Amino acid sequence: MRPGTLRLPVLPPLSLYVHLPWCLRKCPYCDFNSHEFRAGGEAGELPEQRYIDALVADLETSLPLVWGRPVHSIFIGGGTPSLFSPQAIDRLLGDIRARLPLTPDCEITLEANPGTFEKDRFKAFRTAGVTRLSVGVQSFNDAHLSALGRVHDRAQALAAVEEAAQAFDTFNLDLMYALPGQTLAELDEDIHTALALGPPHISIYHLTIEPNTVFAKYPPAVPEDDLAYAMLDRLTELTGVAGLQRYEVSAFARPGHRCWHNLNYWQFGDYLGIGAGAHSKLSFAHRAVRQVRYREPLGYVDRALAGQAVTQDDEVARADLPFEFMLNALRLKEGFALQDFTARTGLPVTAIQAALEAAEGKGLIQRDFTHVRPTERGFDFLSDLQALFLPT
Ligand SMILES: C[S@@+](CC[C@H](N)C(=O)[O-])C[C@H]1O[C@@H](n2cnc3c(N)ncnc32)[C@H](O)[C@@H]1O
Ligand code: SF4
Repeated sequence: MRPGTLRLPVLPPLSLYVHLPWCLRKCPYCDFNSHEFRAGGEAGELPEQRYIDALVADLETSLPLVWGRPVHSIFIGGGTPSLFSPQAIDRLLGDIRARLPLTPDCEITLEANPGTFEKDRFKAFRTAGVTRLSVGVQSFNDAHLSALGRVHDRAQALAAVEEAAQAFDTFNLDLMYALPGQTLAELDEDIHTALALGPPHISIYHLTIEPNTVFAKYPPAVPEDDLAYAMLDRLTELTGVAGLQRYEVSAFARPGHRCWHNLNYWQFGDYLGIGAGAHSKLSFAHRAVRQVRYREPLGYVDRALAGQAVTQDDEVARADLPFEFMLNALRLKEGFALQDFTARTGLPVTAIQAALEAAEGKGLIQRDFTHVRPTERGFDFLSDLQALFLPT
């Protein structure tokens, strides 16, 4: 290992992210690395085996970077991972287990869309070793689902969540709010419908118009900021009454059902990301690196099979670490322990002393000798708060 400028007393917990990049149809708001699968649109025609061969080659090339470190969580994200057959997911998890030491309680999440044939596979995903399903519902309103270009409708969303509840001990619903034309009453209806299904975890995202998407080119009429804030207040209130705690800006969970994998990101843990376009952040005793894999799926396959999936490999500059840490940790309601800042970045607390004082002066954080937490105001003005930690 090359020397570096950091001093990490211990390495953070390690997670594995696996990207499966195909979808039936590209949604007009989506800027994830997801690609419409055109060759007939049949899931059976996905190049499943070849893609998994590439993932395994990618993992094997990466093993020297994580030798001996236990993996606490795996997240199979996309794209639409539920387009892959349960047999393919079973093979993938078997191949991972053969190469990485998973902890006995390793959380294994798979993202699923609520289409009919996907729903029929949920139990088989559980049997393959998936422990947690994340269902991309987005809305239960047919008009909004159609405006979002989704391939499923309300009935399919309800059926998929009911099936997830039967097949899994823990699962998540992804919802979005501030949808084109959405009223507060319609948001209420969506949240009530979601909560009536008893989900242990919900992620609710403000619909963002991302550059280079169809919505950026043809912007729909979305609710004004004031209405969007009112929606956020309302959904926080309703989820709270139903016993789900807002533990992160967009994540709400019942006790014992927080997402370990995402918590590890927010606590500035390490993650190895394999698959097309996947990102990694890995720590070593004296440095931390970020990697990005080749983005286009079939190009990724060829490169990964040749042992060359990585297209960017950069050491994280010491000066950037405080801001990078805060981009994650300040998203958490409980904030962070000062000793974890030191453990994860290898920097002394004095590196952020001036920024902490400024944030406290503006009422954006509360702190004591051991912990720092964002205030309500800090949560509302999160980017302003995080910007205080940018390198000067
Ligand atoms: C990577 S997507 C994959 C999940 C799955 N393919 C789906 O769409 O249901 C993860 C989640 O990000 C959220 N998301 C995607 N694009 C978004 C956008 N432009 N604004 C807000 N949330 C978005 C959606 O809630 C989605 O479920
Ligand atoms: S299904 Fe999910 S990943 Fe695929 S295009 Fe739509 S939002 Fe993006």
